[in-house]
Amino acid sequence: MDLSSRPPSPARPAEFSGSPAAGTRWWRDAVIYQVYVRSFADADGDGVGDLAGIRSRLPYLAALGVDALWITPFYESPMVDGGYDVTDYRSVDPTFGTLADAVELIEEAHRLGLRVIVDIVPNHTSDQHVWFQEALAAGVSGPARERYVFRPGRGASGELPPNDWESVFGGPAWTRLPDGQWYLHLFAPQQPDLNWEHPDVRAEFDDVLRFWLDLGADGFRIDVAHGMVKAAGLPDVGDAPQSRLLGRGKVPYFDQDGVHDIHRGWRRLLALGPGERIGVAEAWAPSLDRLANYVRPDELHQVFNFDYMRTDWDAAELRSVIEKSLASTGPVGAPTTWVLSNHDVQRHVTRYGGDELGRRRARAAALLTLALPGSAYVYQGEELGLPEVLDIPAELLTDPQLESLKGGRDGCRVPLPWSGNEPPFGFGSGGGWLPSPPEWKSLTVEAQWDDEASTLTLYRRALRIRRDHSALGDGELHWLDGPPDCLVFERSGHSDGPRMLCAVNTGDRSVQIPARGSLLLSSEPIRMEGPNAVLPPDTAAWWSTEPSEEPDTGG
Ligand code: BGC
Repeated sequence: MDLSSRPPSPARPAEFSGSPAAGTRWWRDAVIYQVYVRSFADADGDGVGDLAGIRSRLPYLAALGVDALWITPFYESPMVDGGYDVTDYRSVDPTFGTLADAVELIEEAHRLGLRVIVDIVPNHTSDQHVWFQEALAAGVSGPARERYVFRPGRGASGELPPNDWESVFGGPAWTRLPDGQWYLHLFAPQQPDLNWEHPDVRAEFDDVLRFWLDLGADGFRIDVAHGMVKAAGLPDVGDAPQSRLLGRGKVPYFDQDGVHDIHRGWRRLLALGPGERIGVAEAWAPSLDRLANYVRPDELHQVFNFDYMRTDWDAAELRSVIEKSLASTGPVGAPTTWVLSNHDVQRHVTRYGGDELGRRRARAAALLTLALPGSAYVYQGEELGLPEVLDIPAELLTDPQLESLKGGRDGCRVPLPWSGNEPPFGFGSGGGWLPSPPEWKSLTVEAQWDDEASTLTLYRRALRIRRDHSALGDGELHWLDGPPDCLVFERSGHSDGPRMLCAVNTGDRSVQIPARGSLLLSSEPIRMEGPNAVLPPDTAAWWSTEPSEEPDTGG
């Protein structure tokens, strides 16, 4: 089977035919597929994924039925942090291809009806970026240092860091230069933080955004969108354990009110069109309400919902986070996003218990996620039910977060298995930059494509139904009563059309759900017992219902 030449099967929305049209609000319910470029597909056989590899697999993404892809950074970079350390925001790293490859990729995606979101990294550059090199050369009082956050140290001879901030990757967030000054890096020492008070920085990123918009990008995923502005005076955090505050508590280096001015400026830029280009915030804030500030009407279009991603496989907890998520984005008029995995966290098959249990729960979670109102993200390989790889030999690990995060993030970044019986399973002719587990033979795209029972088939069907059924995507959600350990809700679109009933059993016992309408899809086989559907443990199902049918699911 040659998947690279498989034609896209699902009909594309009429308004999108190669160039983004205005007024579609496509982003309100788009399914966006995250491509981790190093690990998606390798066209030139060097063991590392590249843009030509992505291009060759676009027909797969179109046939899968997603609306857009977000590609992690592919710019020129020393790759200390997988490309999130950029030296030139207007170029493509030779490992990943050329600028011409990027343009061809965007054009080809548009021809197939797929939008392309690129990743922009504005909080920090690489230490090899020309600005940082100039800053180093400029000496202690050189103006080139003002584009970054340089400070004298504390202590009698400046031997102590300027404050107590810690890097997200562990250790102090400051590094001292031989000339005595310290510079701030909230991530690796090779990722110095930019000073967003400096006009050059603002002007540069406006220009970088325009550059990619001119090349046809449909939007930006904004890395560390909560980090660019720091509290005035760079105050100490104090005694609190900073690693535990991240994403949960208040720290003077994240989620400062000043970042919103930057996002407002970018929204104005995105609004210039043509078409609807979007900004997606990768932001962490102490509460969902603060997170919703990033998607106020004059700011970005979406923000990742990491609270949902961090929730255990438990009906009550899931219901609570879903309600809170909808309640926080609703008032600002933004769509809620639903994320189960990405390149920074352990894959959810493993988080949910691993092996068959984890995969079974992940399949049910997919149907839950794709039934919720708003936009959903799919991290490459989740449609294959890939688990985290937990036994990568230590000498092959590359992640700079290795010290602060047990095992690091490499285990979710193993090259995607496409076909064949031997590693790297069609990823490329030159092996893979991380080894693939031999047992992934049964998880390749090829092995799953025509298998009725596979996770890939489940995703394809779910995505097709989501596109065709008017109650899915944007719209309302109504909770219904259900048995313990179950989520039961109904979706209605904006019209009087059919509704959709979703039931999810997160418990370890079968439950009975009064069935209504016609079964659309279930994550495991389900059987009827009289008028009731029997939902086995860790199973989700979708039914299409008519508005007149009674919402009676008491159990
Ligand atoms: C990205 C990470 C990266 C970090 C620093 C994160 O938000 O998703 O992969 O290490 O930003 O750029």
